[in-house]
Amino acid sequence: MNFELTEEQLAVKEAARDFAQTELLPGVIDRDENQTYPKEQVKKMGELGFLGMMADPKYNGGGMDSISYVLAMEEISKVDASCSVIMSVNNSLVCWGLETYANEAQKQKYLTKLTTGEHIGAFCLSEPEAGSDATSQKTTAVDMGDHYLLNGTKNWITNGNTANTYIVIAQTDPAKRHKGINALIVEKGMEGFVVGKKENKLGIRGSDTHSLMFTDVKIPKENRIGEDGFGFKFAMSTLNGGRIGIASQALGIASGAYELALQYSKERKAFGKEISQHQAIQFKLADMATNIEAARLLCLQAAALKDQGKDYVKAAAMAKVFASKTAMDVTIEAVQIHGGYGFVKEYHVERMMRDAKITQIYEGTSEIQKIVISRELLRA
Ligand code: CAA
Repeated sequence: MNFELTEEQLAVKEAARDFAQTELLPGVIDRDENQTYPKEQVKKMGELGFLGMMADPKYNGGGMDSISYVLAMEEISKVDASCSVIMSVNNSLVCWGLETYANEAQKQKYLTKLTTGEHIGAFCLSEPEAGSDATSQKTTAVDMGDHYLLNGTKNWITNGNTANTYIVIAQTDPAKRHKGINALIVEKGMEGFVVGKKENKLGIRGSDTHSLMFTDVKIPKENRIGEDGFGFKFAMSTLNGGRIGIASQALGIASGAYELALQYSKERKAFGKEISQHQAIQFKLADMATNIEAARLLCLQAAALKDQGKDYVKAAAMAKVFASKTAMDVTIEAVQIHGGYGFVKEYHVERMMRDAKITQIYEGTSEIQKIVISRELLRA
């Protein structure tokens, strides 16, 4: 087994680290406090190629592997998890989904703009009554011959307001359950499509999360991705890769908080010495670093399997469930190591603790990941 990164992969990691430290760190506390969408920063991410990293260069993508994507996601998430969720949804759920399953005309029309950040994408599966239970879609796409008539509400949509291109999952034939679901490309501005209120969230407050309402929106048939009834399969297989992105986000939140806690423990003195010299802190640092390393290996394993064209469903779910728990545990300990300073905004770790929580919830809760893992285990 080769654990060495290539020169190209190391260069991507370095570029992402530089970008995060110089462009994202200044202002991250204010953006969190005021729920400000990082417009300029996202534009720069597009210019630097972080929004379509894995897509083919013929669609303006970076042509990079999934390992590079994990490395970049970790570095960006260390500093600003709001920016990294925008990046993750655009790369994994929208660009990858379109490149893998859309037809050439759809790729030319939509993907070529999404890879550069000229357009931003959103993936719309969750509903008020269908989050984890994704087959129970209430949004309907009634077949009207040359178009679908789309009606319903989507919830918790990342990039909900800023997106231009929305992939909406909707039920066409309820009798067929998951085989009657379609994935449709919806454009902002289509008549009957309204963006609802922005959610006031615990964490990732810089990202814009909205509900979306569709009332008799006419979607041309040519905007359906894949064959009739392919929508649920599209969503599930796209989410498999999405979970590598979110696992890497969780990894980055954990490693960012750990680095701050390590540094602080070497500076802060108590009882006549740096707190890093107390065994109580050393045990914490050792546990944090060990779990982060394990999470990193799981993320890289899932990415490596994907790059090799092998089955990565179980590996991605394992990476997500473990990395998100690590993010939660490590950020809580990072606050603890900082003591009172950890409880105020200037030291970053309280934000990271709040940001960590969502990684156990979106793109399938930890409980859903365990269902995915156990199904794979029992099938083997
Ligand atoms: N990969 C590929 N195909 C899959 C799959 C997977 N991981 N899981 C299921 N499928 C396929 C099955 O093979 C089956 O197809 P066939 O009938 O052809 O065999 C079909 O999908 C239905 O499968 P199930 O009967 O197993 O479906 P289920 O109703 O029992 O649900 C589930 C399975 C795993 C719980 C699924 O509903 C699920 O993953 N739910 C979580 C949804 C989710 O992640 N939501 C997050 C929204 S996106 C988001 O959060 C983005 C963001 O903003 C950051």
